[in-house]
Amino acid sequence: MGDWIAFWDSEHPIYVNARHRDVHYRTIAQDIRAHLPAGAAVLDYGCGEALHADLIAASATALILCDAAPKVRAALARRFADHPKIKVCAPEDIATMPARSLDAVVLHSVAQYLTPDALDALLATFRRLLRENGVLIVGDVVPPHVSAFTDAAALLRFGAANGFLGATLVGFARTLFSNYWRLRSQLGLTRYDEAAMTAKLAGSGFSARRASANIGHNPARMTFIARPV
Ligand SMILES: C[S@@+](CC[C@H](N)C(=O)[O-])C[C@H]1O[C@@H](n2cnc3c(N)ncnc32)[C@H](O)[C@@H]1O
Repeated sequence: MGDWIAFWDSEHPIYVNARHRDVHYRTIAQDIRAHLPAGAAVLDYGCGEALHADLIAASATALILCDAAPKVRAALARRFADHPKIKVCAPEDIATMPARSLDAVVLHSVAQYLTPDALDALLATFRRLLRENGVLIVGDVVPPHVSAFTDAAALLRFGAANGFLGATLVGFARTLFSNYWRLRSQLGLTRYDEAAMTAKLAGSGFSARRASANIGHNPARMTFIARPV
């Protein structure tokens, strides 16, 4: 799945304009924050550009932002260089963190870019890092039946509600000619239905339930709240 990381590290066309990028990351930060206990040490794994990570950090004691894409990480490190609670890490730094050092881990819109084995390895790491009463939030899980048209319709509604509908239409055209569709058709997305993700989390030592709403703009995808057992 290295090609996906190269894609996210490039000047990709997924965000149709600056307003989309801003509203996307603000919505996610607000939704994530609503699931977190106050005063938590939080890891956001596969955080992407995380433009509004400061909203999550505001109610946390510490926020670790981790992404595999080096340019994304460099931009995060610059953006939050002076933030007292935010630290930017590479995936290899996470593997060596002390056991039971975190209260919450967020994995949002990442599982679909991982092989099932790679997700198992990550879940084992998260299980080790979380305290007994910690929480793992796995968001934007793509069910098997959800098509690219459903994703497109969700983005159109998000654009219409937030003043970037026209740019969304132009953005679709740009995305059609980008690497995104080549990667999505060649590599595919890893999909789980509710029972499969709940079972996968149970196999990694978590008791999970599906949240009533997904984090972010796409209600056809799923968020799971998992606790160590
Ligand atoms: C769809 S973006 C999601 C970004 C953000 N979480 C959001 O919801 O907007 C997926 C992100 O996961 C990162 N990623 C993919 N595989 C990863 C891995 N194995 N380890 C860490 N980050 C990974 C990518 O670099 C990319 O920034």
